[in-house]
Amino acid sequence: MNLSKVVRPNILALAPYSCARDEFKGEARINVDANENPYNNGLNRYPDPRQLKVKALLAPIKGVKEEQIFLGNGSDEAIDLVYRIFCRPGIDNVVAPAPTYGMYQVCAEVNDVEYRAVPMQAETFALDVEAMAAQVDDHTKVIWVCSPNNPSGNAYSREQLISIVERFHDQIVVIDEAYIDFAAQPSMTDQLDRHDNLIVLQTFSKAWGHAAMRLGIAMSSPAIIAFFNNVKYPYNVNELTQQEAVRVLENVDRMRRQVAEVLSQRDILRQLLEPLPIVQHVYPSDANFLLVKVNDAMATYQYLQSEGVIVRNRHKVQLCANCLRITIGTPEENAQLYNLLKDYGNK
Ligand SMILES: Cc1ncc(COP(=O)(O)O)c(C=O)c1O
Repeated sequence: MNLSKVVRPNILALAPYSCARDEFKGEARINVDANENPYNNGLNRYPDPRQLKVKALLAPIKGVKEEQIFLGNGSDEAIDLVYRIFCRPGIDNVVAPAPTYGMYQVCAEVNDVEYRAVPMQAETFALDVEAMAAQVDDHTKVIWVCSPNNPSGNAYSREQLISIVERFHDQIVVIDEAYIDFAAQPSMTDQLDRHDNLIVLQTFSKAWGHAAMRLGIAMSSPAIIAFFNNVKYPYNVNELTQQEAVRVLENVDRMRRQVAEVLSQRDILRQLLEPLPIVQHVYPSDANFLLVKVNDAMATYQYLQSEGVIVRNRHKVQLCANCLRITIGTPEENAQLYNLLKDYGNK
């Protein structure tokens, strides 16, 4: 792909902010370059702007090179940067299936970029790739696909995702894999060396159990990642987050054990919910939540809320009428939720 055709001209021409520590390699004896307080309290120095320790641990886990990784303040930062790097406000557009993760549209609107939502197929939440292609024109810069998709929970086959990346070769294709660790199929990261228009997003907020840490991952070609690094704030990932990320990445086994537990709870909760009279359908899920169609989502939502249980009401979302999105909790939480819904059905 010719990046100079998809990257905004002002970003191609940007001379990024450079700090003295970007220009120096090795261990400094004295740091009097950044106007910091010199008295050590563990946090008096600016953090590593390139997060090299985190990337050194993450790269082998993800099977990519360090220069293929961008780290941000949640993957929401990466989503916003995609607009700021590729989309000219008021001129360019992006295409995304609906329903999907809401921040693609919010960030489009913040950046004054036209968001073209293409409905998925009702009930299966299959992608309508032909309808997406019909929305693409000379000003389409980005195609968004979330797999497994939020809020429907289904993942798209690798064959289909690869064919989308190949078909839209003049656009950037972003595959958001926030929930990939809960899916039966592997990540698309192994396609990065084959397709230079592909960006894969992941996050520490879901399987890794660190939503509060705020650390998101974008993986792509070194050339695209260089644009992310040029556009981001210099110290976008704070020191506490970097230290905690190193700790988390040293314990991959704990993440895998928790994912296995969530997956077995997902099956148990599905089997419990399906026969309930108030439940019409539990959609297949490759994520850590279930999309559940009930007889009356508003009433069920309010009932659960009155019992102190918060689920996500998706009733007003396209193709999700009467649907609640329920995150898999601990075994105790799932049992309590089930008992409440069972009692409600019997009232
Ligand atoms: C599909 C998807 N992508 C991205 C995010 C945002 O993740 P982060 O916490 O890394 O900003 C979410 C959060 O719910 C999500 O569902």
